[in-house]
Amino acid sequence: MSIPFIIAIDGPAASGKGTLSRRLAEALELPHLDTGLTYRAVAHALLQDKQPLDDEDIAVEAAKKIDLGVLDPIVLAVHAIGEAASKVAVMSRVRITLVDKQRQFANAGKGAVLDGRDIGTVVCPDAQVKFYVTASPEVRAERRWKEVQERGNLTGSDASFETILSDIKLRDERDMGRADSPLKPAEDAHLLDTSKMDIETAFHTALSIVKSSNPK
Ligand code: DC
Repeated sequence: MSIPFIIAIDGPAASGKGTLSRRLAEALELPHLDTGLTYRAVAHALLQDKQPLDDEDIAVEAAKKIDLGVLDPIVLAVHAIGEAASKVAVMSRVRITLVDKQRQFANAGKGAVLDGRDIGTVVCPDAQVKFYVTASPEVRAERRWKEVQERGNLTGSDASFETILSDIKLRDERDMGRADSPLKPAEDAHLLDTSKMDIETAFHTALSIVKSSNPK
């Protein structure tokens, strides 16, 4: 059996990595996992059960129960769940539990596209292609705000642009500043700054890099 062809995509919140990952997965006919949903699912379970977000034993039990097959991106998109997820994500034993599930997904078939914060550095350090997607906090807040506008009534989100911008900055601090698996580019990652690049350009740039890295 040949080695799975894994594409690792990391970057901060609302950098465009999710859209890029989905487009690449579709074009290459590979399964895709948004690993942020796994942290969001733990946060959602804790919030629903009215449990604290900083009790590691309780959070690990919730993480063990997460089924990657039934993650609902619409339910988990709520702004407050993203905030709670970045708190849950600082706990090392929660990360170990979720990373184990993410690795199983990555290695289950002919390959996969995974996006998150630590895919190229921790989850799949041997991925054949790695991208680090970024954009300025203002550009990212603008994108997230538009998404919230479009989805508003569906998810009950009501965050203003200012709230989203300050949350994005705080989230960056938490994601980049945590001791375990902080967000940072892998040494061998291709950097894609999408501040002034539309998704089509980012997608075609990434696809040509993938094609030149794939020996097949
Ligand atoms: O990408 P997102 O907004 O859905 O991620 C939610 C939180 O989950 C984010 O603040 C940090 C955490 N996360 C992580 O620590 N590692 C990952 N691989 C993916 C997400």
